[in-house]
Amino acid sequence: MRDYNVAVVGATGAVGSETVRMLDMRNFPIRSIKLLASGRSAGKTMPFRGRDVVIEELKETSFEGVEIAFFGAGSGVSKQFAAHAVKAGALIIDKTSAFRMLADVPLVIPEINGTEIARHKGIVSSPNCVAVVLTMAIYPILKRYPIKRLVVSSYQATSGAGAKAARELLNQTKAFLAGEPLPREVFKHQIAFNLFSHDSPIYDNGYNDEENKVIEETRKILSLPELPIAVTCVRVPIVRAHSVSINYESDRPVDLDEVRALLGAANGVKVVDDRVNNHFPMPIECSEKDEVLVGRLRTDLSNPNGIELFASGDQLLKGAALNAVQIAEYAVGNGIIKG
Ligand SMILES: NC(=O)c1ccc[n+]([C@@H]2O[C@H](COP(=O)([O-])OP(=O)(O)OC[C@H]3O[C@@H](n4cnc5c(N)ncnc54)[C@H](OP(=O)(O)O)[C@@H]3O)[C@@H](O)[C@H]2O)c1
Repeated sequence: MRDYNVAVVGATGAVGSETVRMLDMRNFPIRSIKLLASGRSAGKTMPFRGRDVVIEELKETSFEGVEIAFFGAGSGVSKQFAAHAVKAGALIIDKTSAFRMLADVPLVIPEINGTEIARHKGIVSSPNCVAVVLTMAIYPILKRYPIKRLVVSSYQATSGAGAKAARELLNQTKAFLAGEPLPREVFKHQIAFNLFSHDSPIYDNGYNDEENKVIEETRKILSLPELPIAVTCVRVPIVRAHSVSINYESDRPVDLDEVRALLGAANGVKVVDDRVNNHFPMPIECSEKDEVLVGRLRTDLSNPNGIELFASGDQLLKGAALNAVQIAEYAVGNGIIKG
C-alpha cells in the first residue's frame, strides 16, 4: 500500500485535532500532512509523528497535490472550499452538515453502509454525531427485527458544540463553585448544573435543527426513507460523549437474549448490560474509546413488539474523527482511491 497526501481542515478544533490524532494512532499511510485552519491559527504548530507541523491558513489554493481532505471547520467553510479541493483531485471526507442530504453524496458509517463510498463524486459525508450513536446501536438488530418506529431522546456533551463550548462547561463549573458570576460565551443558557433543549434553531415543524438532522440522516443511513422517528435532543453538563435513549418498535415480539447476542456480535459495538450491578452505558466509559456502548435492554412494558435501549458513544471519535478516518481506510483498502 502506498502513502497519501492528506489535509485536515479545521485541524485546531475539537474534531480536527482528534482527526489528526486518529490518523496517527491508526497508522494511516501518510506521505505528507497539511494542517489547515483560520488565519487566527496560521503559523502555530501541532505535533504529528514526532515533528511539529506548521498550521496554514485555509485558502482556495491549499489543496494542490492533496489526495484526501478531511473537512471539519463548519458547514460554511465546507460549502466555500470543498469544490476547490474536489477540483484539485482530492477525495473530501466531510464531517459537517454541508452536503449530507445531497442525493449524490454518500452518508457513510463504514460498519453499516461502507459500500456506498464507491459512488462518491468527490465528497463523502460523515453523519451527525447523534445519528451515528443511534444507528450503530440499532443496525445490528434491524434485519432480524424490522423496524416500525423509533422514539429517541439524546443527552449531548458540550464538546459536541466545539472546543470553546467544552471549555465553557469547565469554566462555569469552577465559577459556580467559587460563587462567582458564570462566564457565558457559547451557550445562551447556563450549562453547569443545568441542561437545556438543544442549542440549535427551531424549524416550523417545532423540531430543532439537530432533531431534524437526526431524523433525516438516520433515514438516509439506514435506507429507510419513510421511517417514523420522534426525537428530542438535549444538551447536558458533560464534556465528552453523547448518549441516547431509544424506544425501538418492531413488527414482532422481541427476544431480548437474541438482541443481546446480535449486538454482541456487531463490529464497533460493545454490550454493557449488567442488571445485577446496575452497570449500563456511561459517557465516561466510552470517552476516547472506539466502540459505541449499548445496554439497558428491556422489553417495552407498554408494547410487546418494543425494545428499550440506552447507548453512549464518543461523538468526537465514532461520531466524527474516527468515522472519517475509517471512511478513508475503506476507500484506500477497496481501491476507491487509486493506489
Ligand atoms: N464537535 C463534535 O462533536 C462534532 C461531531 C460531528 C461533527 N461536527 C462538525 O464538525 C465541524 C467542526 O466542529 P468542532 O466541534 O471541531 O468545532 P471547533 O472546535 O469550534 O473547531 C472549528 C475549527 O474550524 C476552524 N475554522 C473556523 N473558521 C474557519 C475558517 N473561516 N477557515 C478555516 N478554518 C476555520 C477553526 O480554526 P481556528 O482554531 O483557527 O479558529 C477550528 O480549527 C462542525 O461543522 C460540526 O458541526 C462536530
